[in-house]
Amino acid sequence: ELGPYSHFMQKEIYEQPKALSDTIEAVLDAGFAMQLFGENAEALLPKLTGVKIIACGTSYYAGLTAKYWIESIAGVQCDVEIASEYRYRNAWADPQHLVVTISQSGETLDTMEALKYAKERGHQYALSICNVRESAIPRASELVFYTRAGAEIGVASTKAFTTQLVALFTLAVTLGKVRGRVSAEQEAGYLDDLRHLPGSVQHALNLEPQIKAWADKFAAKDHALFLGRGLHYPIALEGALKLKEISYIHAEAYPAGELKHGPLALVDSAMPVVVIAPNDSLLEKVKSNMQEVRARGGELFVFADADSHFSESEGVHVIRTPRHVGVLSPVVHAIPVQILAYHAALARGTDVDKPRNLAKSVTVE
Ligand code: M6R
Repeated sequence: ELGPYSHFMQKEIYEQPKALSDTIEAVLDAGFAMQLFGENAEALLPKLTGVKIIACGTSYYAGLTAKYWIESIAGVQCDVEIASEYRYRNAWADPQHLVVTISQSGETLDTMEALKYAKERGHQYALSICNVRESAIPRASELVFYTRAGAEIGVASTKAFTTQLVALFTLAVTLGKVRGRVSAEQEAGYLDDLRHLPGSVQHALNLEPQIKAWADKFAAKDHALFLGRGLHYPIALEGALKLKEISYIHAEAYPAGELKHGPLALVDSAMPVVVIAPNDSLLEKVKSNMQEVRARGGELFVFADADSHFSESEGVHVIRTPRHVGVLSPVVHAIPVQILAYHAALARGTDVDKPRNLAKSVTVE
């Protein structure tokens, strides 16, 4: 089953261009059409006035990324909730807000219970973004979008995450269309962005040898800090989760603008700092945050694109993808943080596919 690969995680990282193409295929055929979300979508989507996303772990980080897209492209208010917190909170519910659950397995207990709870609180309809057909969560939802990542076996979620991002981006643009905020020209542009995405992801995969060289350095460290801003802050969170989950290196992620509010105190020469810094509107801000790190002796490992115009200097290492891909940039930048975690784990000799204490599908509380 593994073919030329050593681990399922590695295989699943490399399957991402195909997983993305398969998931995008229906969108390229139909455009950003409501039917992509199921037969009830045309009746339900035009009525919603807000979105509440509920998920756990990596799926929650996909939701955090989606908040940026949904609010900026669709102009709809969007909250993102951790399922295990939401279900025990006396939560305020607006019946016109669409509940969106995100789950690779479709069987995560906290997400399932949070969905039931949202219905009890008064939410009327829910969309499930799920990778496993006919699992519990999509069965309990009025609307569904199946990601087509194929079976994901490694405990660390990789191809499920990037296909979830594509599903959520599709939701944002579709809602934007329904609300008259996306012109035909913009729609064509977003379709083009999707069309080019698997190729850009392939470019990111080709960076593996350089990333491995970084990972070998990380393997000797006890801690790491991940920084990003805006759309790339959730990718920093995902990078930190991947690293701690499979290599057991303690990693934390912060929005780079928060450095001065606490985490800068941790920075010294023993603390590698990974920065997700493609050429988006916050790049200049990120650059000045990086100077704050350098001034304290922190060593920077920067994932950028050609348009970010970084050069290497003492204590600043840079790996770049060829060009900036616009609003889908978080999908491309998910790849290097997955590869970094994978190789750090290999160098430390941990069980990559079955990290200690964790299960693939969390069906207990
Ligand atoms: O199947 P789900 O997407 O509902 O799972 C949610 C989390 O348990 C999962 O993403 C977990 O955080 C992964 N092991 C992260 O790699």
